[in-house]
Amino acid sequence: MENSTKGSNTCLIGLQWGDEGKGKIVDILTESFDIIVRYQGGSNAGHTVIVDNEKFVLHLIPSGILRKNKCCVIGSGVALDPHQLLEEIDELRKKNIEVGNNLRISELAHLVFPYHKKFDELSESEKGDEKIGTTRRGIGPCYTDKMARNGIRVADLYHTEHFKQRLKKVVEEKNKILVRLYDAEALSWKDMYDTYCEYAEQIRPFVCNTVVFMDEALKAKKKILFEGAQGSLLDVDFGTYPFITSSSVTAGGAAVGTGISPKQIHKVLGIMKSYTTRVGSGPFPSELNDTLGEYLRKKGGEYGATTGRPRRCGWFDTVAVKHAIMISGVDSAVLTKLDVLDEQETIKICVGYKFSDKVYDLFPADLAVRTECQPVYKEVPGWQKDTSKLRDAKDIPPQAKNYINTLEKILGIRVEMLSVGPDRGQVVNLI
Ligand code: GDP
Ligand code: IMO
Ligand code: MG
Repeated sequence: MENSTKGSNTCLIGLQWGDEGKGKIVDILTESFDIIVRYQGGSNAGHTVIVDNEKFVLHLIPSGILRKNKCCVIGSGVALDPHQLLEEIDELRKKNIEVGNNLRISELAHLVFPYHKKFDELSESEKGDEKIGTTRRGIGPCYTDKMARNGIRVADLYHTEHFKQRLKKVVEEKNKILVRLYDAEALSWKDMYDTYCEYAEQIRPFVCNTVVFMDEALKAKKKILFEGAQGSLLDVDFGTYPFITSSSVTAGGAAVGTGISPKQIHKVLGIMKSYTTRVGSGPFPSELNDTLGEYLRKKGGEYGATTGRPRRCGWFDTVAVKHAIMISGVDSAVLTKLDVLDEQETIKICVGYKFSDKVYDLFPADLAVRTECQPVYKEVPGWQKDTSKLRDAKDIPPQAKNYINTLEKILGIRVEMLSVGPDRGQVVNLI
């Protein structure tokens, strides 16, 4: 893996509905890079890294922070919740992880305010059965304000009079909606102003022009790893709309969310789990609503790293992953959580969606097809051996090799690395 990524700026993205194990793989790859950048999403993400039995869950700070002598950047495309960020910094420091000159925050990033979280909560409650199942971190409302040109950015915090006037105006407007539409309590702009002025001072050492910082780094031949959050099927344009997040999760989002030219992204690495999971509502054709689904949830520890919610589980879906590969031009993949399938006698791979006598092998745009279709499966034999201690490709059981090769063939990409357990060391390089 080190050899294949060396010399190229790499964008790492999830190929399913999130939680593919991106954090763990970013932590491993970080060794080959100088700068690790988050470019979209916010604290809706939960990236887990386990090092010598110690667990770290990163929400806003790139997973590269755990390695020494690396620089982490929170790009302009991130929805930044300063409260969450400061908590995360605190937790890392308590665990003796340095956070100082190795963290940069874009002055152009949009801030998440308490009203964003409130609107996230109220809008979900209002939707009832139709709810998206958001993380309630205020992400959708923050990006809505950004696009509606009502957002407040990090840089605004440092022009106190301008910030005060702008926040006052925005909160007054939000209060009208809160009180008149939702019958909720009004929020105090003054309290918010005081709190955010304090946050501003605390985050000041990290704030800079990250576009210039990264441009200079590129000119100095530094290597950048872009850490995608969420998963391609949650992408605002190409995901299972409206059951999606509100940012551009694809590799293209890395250029948009950092100000770096797309020409500077040399490689796109897709992270995919050996089966599928999804948190929240929305179509999931290969979902297992049975004891096997429950088994995968338990064995895989499939509970949200951000919200603790149980994740829905099902078989690997090649129709959805092929779509994800196409929209980001994925070069190769890492297959995670192979160990979770160790006990299966037979493994199913979803290769098509059947709807009204038609079989779709390309991801359909129609929500009704996605929701009501029946999965078409190909079956392969399981290996029924413990893979968690595998470190060498030559020891991979033949049935596991067959499963990987079958996926590679259907998806048209190579699997570079296998992950066989949550710990940093539990990987097998395939090339
Ligand atoms: P992310 O959001 O893509 O970074 O993924 P999450 O951290 O939300 O979820 C992945 C979960 O699987 C975490 O609890 C990881 O510790 C765990 N994990 C990662 N890779 C493996 C693996 O290969 N095997 C097992 N059993 N667990 C893994
Ligand atoms: P990582 O980076 C899994 C899901 C939510 C919900 C939808 C919209 O850890 O893979 P939002 O709060 O973003 O408005 O919620 O998106 N979602 C995730 N699911 N992993 C994530 O991040 C997610 N971030 C958001 O569950 O269905
Ligand atoms: Mg996660």
